[in-house]
Amino acid sequence: MGARKKTGILISGRGSNMQALVKAARDPAFPAEIVVVISNRASASGLDFAKAEGIATEVVDHKAHASREAFDAELDAALKRHGAELVACAGFMRIMTEGFVQRWRDRMINIHPSLLPAYKGLHTHERALADKVTRHGCSVHFVRSDVDSGPLIAQASVPVLKSDTPETLAARVLDAEHKIYPRALAVVASGAVRVEGETLVAAKPGLHIPLTIP
Ligand code: GRF
Repeated sequence: MGARKKTGILISGRGSNMQALVKAARDPAFPAEIVVVISNRASASGLDFAKAEGIATEVVDHKAHASREAFDAELDAALKRHGAELVACAGFMRIMTEGFVQRWRDRMINIHPSLLPAYKGLHTHERALADKVTRHGCSVHFVRSDVDSGPLIAQASVPVLKSDTPETLAARVLDAEHKIYPRALAVVASGAVRVEGETLVAAKPGLHIPLTIP
């Protein structure tokens, strides 16, 4: 096995997806190692979990920076200080500058609670229920400057029940997120995929991209 890819995780809140990545990376055979968890909010509860795991944490407060550029420059510096080679956004609620996105192009991934390209943006569960769709889910993709777009790495779909509320649907999707995000990070970190233009292609025979669950 080659060296594990040093990965920084960006969060803004509870960080349950970050926890799923950290737990997967406890296995020394997992191809990524989590070197830092960075939050833009000091009160993000996810930071406590990361600290308890012995992972370095940083707070880069967007309110303490005069511009998006200044905030992103500090974020970039924090990632570099910890030697990050990959970035995984996990409920990170800041829009990034074009410059930051370009610097991390094809090395930064995000998880979004919908079957992209459907329901980009916020309130995905409410919108899926309003449309009476029968399947909903989550996607992991490389980050581009257009929000919630970029080459798809993995998708997991779940049924939508007639009795669902936004909360029950969100919980079902979140379970799927916790399964799919570690798998997506693993294929990226292991070099099993590469980006050609705006499409992701499998670099290993027999691998179907995007990964799908179930
Ligand atoms: C998740 O639903 C994720 O898809 C979205 O924000 C939520 C973050 O939850 N981007 P958590 O902080 O990972 O628990």
